[in-house]
Amino acid sequence: MNLPNLEEARKRTQQKITFIEEPYELSEELKTLGRGKKYYIRTYGCQMNVHDSENIKAILEKMSFTETEELEDADLILLNTCAIRENAHHKMFGFLGRIKHLKEDHPHIITAICGCMAQEESVVEELQKKYKWVDLVFGTHNIHRLPTILERAMSRREQEIEVYSKEGEVIENIPVKRDSKYKAWVNIMFGCDKFCTYCIVPYTRGKQRSRKPEWIVHEVEDLVKQGYQEVTLLGQNVNAYGKDLEEPCNMGNLLELVAKTGIPRIRFMTSHPWDFNDEMIEIIGKYENIMPYVHLPLQSGSDRILKLMGRRYTKQEYLELVSKLKKRIPSLALTTDIIVGFPGETREDFEETLEVVKTCEYDSAFTFIFSPREGTPAAKMKDETPIEEKNKRLYELNDLINEYANLKNQQYLGKKVKVLLEGPSEKEGKLMGYTETMKLVNVDAKEELLGKIVDVEITDIKTWSLDGKVV
Ligand code: 5AD
Ligand code: SF4
Repeated sequence: MNLPNLEEARKRTQQKITFIEEPYELSEELKTLGRGKKYYIRTYGCQMNVHDSENIKAILEKMSFTETEELEDADLILLNTCAIRENAHHKMFGFLGRIKHLKEDHPHIITAICGCMAQEESVVEELQKKYKWVDLVFGTHNIHRLPTILERAMSRREQEIEVYSKEGEVIENIPVKRDSKYKAWVNIMFGCDKFCTYCIVPYTRGKQRSRKPEWIVHEVEDLVKQGYQEVTLLGQNVNAYGKDLEEPCNMGNLLELVAKTGIPRIRFMTSHPWDFNDEMIEIIGKYENIMPYVHLPLQSGSDRILKLMGRRYTKQEYLELVSKLKKRIPSLALTTDIIVGFPGETREDFEETLEVVKTCEYDSAFTFIFSPREGTPAAKMKDETPIEEKNKRLYELNDLINEYANLKNQQYLGKKVKVLLEGPSEKEGKLMGYTETMKLVNVDAKEELLGKIVDVEITDIKTWSLDGKVV
């Protein structure tokens, strides 16, 4: 048993990061542990988690498990959890209720909790006290150890917990079963050292650790060989890429290296305004295969709140960055994250956020009400704004965001755009895909065009998507 520890998770030392670069191998016994058994995995949270689930699937399949999409058919159920806001907690515990029912009739089912909630001390305490029937818990740092942990859980049938609150390593060669044949997630770094005061990620994902550029480039080259059309470079704060590497390589350098692999489309997320330098803007503008799309979390438009959030930029600096981006990349689509109702946010602070939204004219935005996360500084800040007022602000903000989103979409009518057709559309007989600027398009197109980047004329504008035909 190894339990998470908040104090440990908070620590950052100068200790060197360990790179584990050996091939990923399993013993003969572990390779057959899942024979005849099915697993079901449910993923909550961000792309990082989605990609972790792709690793978990591949590991399980190396152990001879097969995937099922029917919960009722599963011998092994995994919940890959998110801790970012309170409602992610509720969703997970709600779903556990369903599994408990199922387990009453099928006691052989193994239940596993992993991901960011597994890194939380209080969550694991609750699982130990009230959810003893959950068979195993493992964290974000030891996905590669799943076979061993699972074997122990399957043979002992008592709750198996292995979670480390360490600063972290970089582990290469973890196998992956990608959800798509055309688009791939590629981790470029793990963890985060920014410690924004509201955010739990630095505690659940550890210290910032960048992968070496040669490993990233190698992975992308391999994807190109397999026919992939798009990669999204993933990190909690990609602009800080390389700061922890011994051999200098920053995000601009990395983008250039990846662009030169010839992969048709490159995206990256998430950016922090603080580390977004001119060199990076120049490179995004220079290479055709780096998509003109940036997700740039604002969080708040008030300098006072930004300071309380520990964001390390001012409204003015943010606006200058946006203006530089738009100037160098005229076709840029810009999206953002905004939190309303941060402790102490006044109506005036909120109005400043609205002003920034008006200036930036975002293509879309993810908006949230502040959710206090245990162990973070903001959770201890005095918060006197009633929830009704916070809800009101959220609605008001969403109305404004939608207005601009709609305005942006209208500009596409009759235009010709490039779309990577990636799957069947929800609309019968059509395919769906995204433009370079990340707009969802439902396209009248034959199935043989799947996986191709095609020219599409936009024929209609819907609230959340565009319609088009191949030209
Ligand atoms: N409460 C509300 N929203 C949060 N986010 C992160 N932490 C919190 C929190 N405690 C939002 C931020 C971040 C996005 C991924 O989630 O806007 O950019
Ligand atoms: Fe959720 Fe953050 Fe963990 Fe992603 S990194 S799963 S958003 S808590």
